[in-house]
Amino acid sequence: MTTDNHDTPPAQSSWSGAASSALILGLAALPLALAIGGILYSRPSTPDAPAVAAQSSTATPAAGLVPAVFSPPGERDIPDSKMGEWIQRGEAIFARTPENAVGFSGNSLSCANCHIDAGRLKNAAPMWGAYPMYPAYRKKTDHVDTFAERVRGCFMYSMNGTAPQDGHDILVAVEAYAYWMASKAPIGEKQPGAGFAKVPKPEQAPTFDAGQKVYTANCALCHGDQGQGQKSGKLTVFPALWGKDSYNWGAGMHEIDKAASFIKSNMPYGLHNALSDQEAWDVATFINSFERPQDPRFKGDVKQTRQQFHDSPYSTYGLEVNGKLLGVGL
Ligand code: HEC
Ligand code: HEC
Repeated sequence: MTTDNHDTPPAQSSWSGAASSALILGLAALPLALAIGGILYSRPSTPDAPAVAAQSSTATPAAGLVPAVFSPPGERDIPDSKMGEWIQRGEAIFARTPENAVGFSGNSLSCANCHIDAGRLKNAAPMWGAYPMYPAYRKKTDHVDTFAERVRGCFMYSMNGTAPQDGHDILVAVEAYAYWMASKAPIGEKQPGAGFAKVPKPEQAPTFDAGQKVYTANCALCHGDQGQGQKSGKLTVFPALWGKDSYNWGAGMHEIDKAASFIKSNMPYGLHNALSDQEAWDVATFINSFERPQDPRFKGDVKQTRQQFHDSPYSTYGLEVNGKLLGVGL
């Protein structure tokens, strides 16, 4: 792992070439891979045309209707200035994290794999919904987190990597990007579509077996039989859901209630609320019942780590599933 371009200013040449060719490759690979799904998954955005329209700047909030979803600026609105360069750099880190945060990213995921549409999509923890809500007290860290600290958390857990130290240019660039995306959003007021849309607990307790059925029918096509995802060369086309290339045991997505909420709004890709609440909880239970990289807060004892950090009905860490103890790490 190298951290050599660590402190370099965001000169276009050091990163944008690699990022844009990777992006072009990615865009070319996605429809191809989606074509495997054929009729089922013809185009990711068509099923939700009304929601997309509601996000566009032409939507007029009408009294008595559902409150308008905040409309973030588009990529073309990035200013042509020094600040704009940092915003662009943040966007590149967000979209292609492994290539643009070398030494800090520990798996093949990118921020945008979970914060979909480069951090714009409502109910996928969009950056315009997050930025204005920090600093905030968080139980997980037991102190008041700044936005930068929150991002450091996603580097440590969701990216199974190393958090850039405070003031590091990678953090500054991501902050600049999120700040810009939240332009004109009210501060300290939770916006509709911010975070995830919580899915109520289902009637039946979710099970691995029920989740496996949902997974085989709706997810395996893209994410693979072993949750390993799919790559085209080095580029991730479909991200991994468990195993060594996925988020670690400390990540929010390993918590079944959070994963169910993300999945219900966003998966199968391009469909929104296609699964029932029960199916979302079942499949969230299934994908989070396999081994994944260790929680970085682990001090050598799975039981103690469960007690300290995962004492919740929504974590399978430290439990036995199908005769296997989970939480031993990979
Ligand atoms: C595996 C999926 C995943 C990846 C990859 C990921 N995140 Fe997150 N992120 C989450 C989840 C889940 C939450 C909510 C966690 C919670 O509520 O505890 C979250 C929360 C956040 C928040 C706070 C959102 C809010 O509304 O308060 C920010 C900011 C954030 N992530 C930034 C990033 C950045 C930057 C990256 C890339 C370096 C990244 N995330 C990568 C899943 C992910
Ligand atoms: C048509 C292909 C496709 C199908 C089917 C699909 N996904 Fe995804 N999934 C994706 C893509 C693509 C992303 C990354 C989104 C992005 O980068 O814009 C993703 C991201 C995710 C993520 C967050 C990133 C990660 O790796 O943790 C989870 C969790 C997830 N999918 C779960 C599921 C589940 C559960 C199902 C079945 C109910 C499912 N997906 C069905 C394509 C698919």
